Amino acid sequence: MNIAWGITGAGHLLKDTFAVMEELKKEHRITVFLSGGGEEVLKAYGLWGRLNEICPGDYLEEIITSLSEGKSAPTTGRFFLKKYDMLIVSPATTNTVAKIVCGISDTLVTNAVSHAMKSMIPVYIVPVDQKEEEKETVLPNYVDRDICENCAKCPPQKICDTVAFGDRKIDLLKCTACGDCVFVCEHGAVISGKVVKLKVRKVDAENVEKLRKMEFITVLESPEKIKNTV
Ligand SMILES: Cc1cc2nc3c(=O)[nH]c(=O)nc-3n(C[C@H](O)[C@H](O)[C@H](O)COP(=O)(O)O)c2cc1C
Repeated sequence: MNIAWGITGAGHLLKDTFAVMEELKKEHRITVFLSGGGEEVLKAYGLWGRLNEICPGDYLEEIITSLSEGKSAPTTGRFFLKKYDMLIVSPATTNTVAKIVCGISDTLVTNAVSHAMKSMIPVYIVPVDQKEEEKETVLPNYVDRDICENCAKCPPQKICDTVAFGDRKIDLLKCTACGDCVFVCEHGAVISGKVVKLKVRKVDAENVEKLRKMEFITVLESPEKIKNTV
């Protein structure tokens, strides 16, 4: 099968999504469509290298980025040409879900959804926030300023290959989550794997209910469930 896969800017469910993509990649071709947020967030979680293995760059196995597609997203024209058997969006941010239910298609991923629907191609979506509930999520690495001693020769800054480690903070747009900074800070000020609690908003849960009612769209509970659709 030829699978189109939209990735949006959610940290939640991102690693589970990658595990499923890697499994499906063994038998299917996957083209990834990245929203701008999707590209930034997956890089911040250190997943860019794994994505390049899933999508080595051959035809229908490419990474399509918002930057390369501009505002009009010409590659989504492939849906009209029926090049894909399905579109999966996982993880889908609250932002992307809200846009889809309102018929907005101003990002690469929402545009792909619109084109797939117009082409009567099935769309499977895994929203990160589905029910009004409290949940936990893992933050990317960050500097805790209350612990940071502001050393004159900051070892994390010195060893950071991508120059993401700046003045007592990490630039997530440059960070590849290699994790070296966590180990070289002798004060333990670089925090990794911090779990935080948050509450899903009512509006986001309501949008998922609206999404369920849309033609050609199926909402899936988790990335794991994607395997049953292929
Ligand atoms: C590290 C990081 C993790 C994020 N995780 C989530 C998330 O789990 N769910 C969510 O709805 N937004 C999350 N966001 C915010 C979205 O990336 C942001 O709203 C973005 O504009 C979404 O655009 P998109 O829907 O086009 O990808 C996160 C942002 C950052 C920086």
